[in-house]
Amino acid sequence: MNPLWQQKKLREFCEKKGIHITGYSPLGAKGTPWGTNWVMDSQVLKDIAIAKGKTSAQVCIRWVYEQGVSVLVKSFNKQRIEENLDIFEWSLSPEESEKISQIPQRKGCPADLFIFDESPFKSRFELWDEDV
Ligand SMILES: NC(=O)c1ccc[n+]([C@@H]2O[C@H](COP(=O)([O-])OP(=O)(O)OC[C@H]3O[C@@H](n4cnc5c(N)ncnc54)[C@H](OP(=O)(O)O)[C@@H]3O)[C@@H](O)[C@H]2O)c1
Repeated sequence: MNPLWQQKKLREFCEKKGIHITGYSPLGAKGTPWGTNWVMDSQVLKDIAIAKGKTSAQVCIRWVYEQGVSVLVKSFNKQRIEENLDIFEWSLSPEESEKISQIPQRKGCPADLFIFDESPFKSRFELWDEDV
């Protein structure tokens, strides 16, 4: 879960059922085989980060946290680990949250490897219960 794949439909379902969500890849898993640079390259996030004196990563992580979701972010770099933890003493304004909610959505990892002739899933539409 991240600002470019907010999964509102799934979150509404979980909320109704009392299911707590843990959001992994909150930065879009930049640099991994299953991720993309889309989140970290988002101009909306960069603009908010510059205006607040934060980084795009911090804006992402804070946004996920403000959705009431547990955040699972990963870094092997000490400075970035500290940066990623520094999201509790500040918040996004309603205007900033609204801007993030308007970001066009893109599923980062469509997992097309599960779609093949013998698979029960013949399309992304089927694989992801229409949430594509
Ligand atoms: N259960 C599942 O199905 C599932 C699926 C996917 C991921 N996960 C887990 O979720 C955790 C996080 O997900 P993820 O690693 O896929 O994606 P992520 O946390 O969104 O992104 C990790 C990438 O962002 C970089 N990064 C971290 N902090 C940064 C910062 N402040 N500024 C710039 N770049 C930064 C990392 O590089 P550096 O290390 O160089 O900082 C790494 O390339 C991992 O522990 C992963 O194993 C679970």
